[in-house]
Amino acid sequence: MNHMVPVVSMPSLAFTPDMATGIRAIDNDHRMLIDIANALTEEVAAGNSKEKLGAALDALIRYVEEHFRREEKMLTDCAYPQLAAHMREHQNLSRSVYEIHHLFRTHPEQVPWGQVTAFLANWLKSHILQTDMAYVECVRNFDGTKNGNSPLPIQPLTLHVTPNRADLLFRCSNLLLEDGEMARLLEEAVTQIEERQSTIG
Ligand SMILES: [Fe+2]
Repeated sequence: MNHMVPVVSMPSLAFTPDMATGIRAIDNDHRMLIDIANALTEEVAAGNSKEKLGAALDALIRYVEEHFRREEKMLTDCAYPQLAAHMREHQNLSRSVYEIHHLFRTHPEQVPWGQVTAFLANWLKSHILQTDMAYVECVRNFDGTKNGNSPLPIQPLTLHVTPNRADLLFRCSNLLLEDGEMARLLEEAVTQIEERQSTIG
């Protein structure tokens, strides 16, 4: 990717029902990754500033890393037989994203944005539909032996935030999805902030 390619208008990638693994944290991650890839595509199509493109790329790198870590831990826990091959796909994508980031930092005018956004959309779609779907049964079987409770259904939600806040929102949403002590603390903190707001207001 070392030459300029005209930016073409790309249709946004959507989280379609066939992409749902039924594993809450993973589906949430995938929705967020798709949102970030679409946000980057929109920044590119709008011809936005280097700062905005940089923030969108930074958000992409953070989510990719966080999601891959979470997914690989889950696959390790359930002793997924294809873990090594799955991790290789993750490593290849990470390497590509870091290469794009490095080119952006050193020669921003050379980033072929049209190719970058098309590559990301294609990678996400095919990785989720093929490589990720292959582990679903393994994870479900493992969860089934761990506890017999079926999880509450989650509700998809679209929020529009700036990339620097998307990271915080994403982390909060994952804490809430885990539904443990940290989720309870977060709820308490939000309630305290709201109480303080109503006192000040
Ligand atoms: Fe994956």
